[in-house]
Amino acid sequence: MVDVILGLQWGDEGKGKIVDYFAKDYDVIARFQGGPNAGHTLYVEDKKIVLHQIPSGVFQKNKLNLIGNGVVLDPVTLKRECDTVASFGVDLKKNLFIAERTHLIIPTHRALDKAAELSKGNQKIGSTLKGIAPTYMDKTGRNGLRVGDLLDKNFTTAYIKLRLKHQKLLDNYSFAEDITAWEEEFFEALEFLKQLNIVNGEYFINQQLQAGKRVLAEGAQGSMLDIDFGTFPFVTSSNTISAGVCSGLGVAPQKIRDVIGVTKAYCTRVGGGPFPTELDDETGEELRKVGNEFGATTGRPRRCGWIDLVALRFACMINGVTKIVMTKADVLDAFKVLNVCTSYNVNGEESTEIPFRLDRMKVEARYKTFPGWNTPTCAAKSFTELPETMKTYVDFINKYLEVKIHYISNGPGRDQIICV
Ligand code: GDP
Ligand code: IMO
Ligand code: MG
Repeated sequence: MVDVILGLQWGDEGKGKIVDYFAKDYDVIARFQGGPNAGHTLYVEDKKIVLHQIPSGVFQKNKLNLIGNGVVLDPVTLKRECDTVASFGVDLKKNLFIAERTHLIIPTHRALDKAAELSKGNQKIGSTLKGIAPTYMDKTGRNGLRVGDLLDKNFTTAYIKLRLKHQKLLDNYSFAEDITAWEEEFFEALEFLKQLNIVNGEYFINQQLQAGKRVLAEGAQGSMLDIDFGTFPFVTSSNTISAGVCSGLGVAPQKIRDVIGVTKAYCTRVGGGPFPTELDDETGEELRKVGNEFGATTGRPRRCGWIDLVALRFACMINGVTKIVMTKADVLDAFKVLNVCTSYNVNGEESTEIPFRLDRMKVEARYKTFPGWNTPTCAAKSFTELPETMKTYVDFINKYLEVKIHYISNGPGRDQIICV
């Protein structure tokens, strides 16, 4: 049986914390897509950790963690992260596994990402510049190098061939940055990677399932950044939705049980692209300040706004969400009035659907207003302790989405989560 935890918005919903919390009930935690563009924050022994490549179950005892074939892997980031994780006494030799079909991010992928973004001018995506799009392009273009290739004697030749191809593209962009230092650390990190458990991911996971083990699939980014269903072209380059679990791990769809969608009690986005409920005012500034909304990977300030139920209902539909976790409810403690977007005004007409190109439309969010609870909630341990006004807010969202909020997270700490 496989359960999935994924983001329902534009990323940074708090997936890392939620996966860490749920991981104790599972045997295997597996990342199925994305790469070091992800930044998943969790707290261990009161220390803040941000994971980019390693599944967020890695700090729970006696769990197996798999980096699945659908992920793109930067060996340099992985090595750095392994060092941090190991410093907490985690034995990665025992609990970290990497699928041999996982594609490698090589230094020229990062250079190409940078060059492509620069060339876009004011149409830039706001990429994390970790080499994500060029690596997925080489995967679908059938040129990429995979983790399993590292063990082949011809790896260096294949690397040089790909690097040369990239160099021609970089010359086209007139990109002339020296990447010698990137290459040095890359080759050093490859030696490290070769020492880790490189496995056939699809047999690994299916053998676990056959033995009755419970698997938790961890999504990166969010549904509105999905390559097919997100706000294209302002998206990432992988399928972030539940369908990505099957192709990103090699598990069949009927093995999937719960799809647990994570949403903030409000909404954020980092990078370019449409964001109908964005608040470009003092309230937005307040959300950023109280919610500490700065990117876990790039440190960029996140754009902030009200919760968008039109986008959330769309995300529930394409993912088949069975349970919702609402995070950062405590951030709304600071507000006297709350708005919830229930429809869009698209080119003058009311709509509750996500249009083809949100970025090309004149979209105005329409809101239902709620009184805020305006009282501290971060110490609450049970649903009964929560203010009635918060319960009304939650109830409205449940009814609109027709999927129930099962958990409310009321602080970044490991124990700050309430079962509804
Ligand atoms: P992810 O990418 O979905 O894992 O989310 P990030 O880690 O990028 O961003 C979520 C941020 O919110 C992190 O700084 C978390 O520590 C923090 N966080 C998570 N849940 C809560 C919550 O319920 N309340 C508050 N105040 N912060 C939270
Ligand atoms: P987690 O897993 C928020 C955004 C970038 C950019 C677009 C494309 O922490 O939720 P890319 O580097 O993939 O080419 O960037 O997607 N983005 C994220 N935003 N959280 C993330 O991951 C993100 N990963 C990518 O800001 O707009
Ligand atoms: Mg993040």
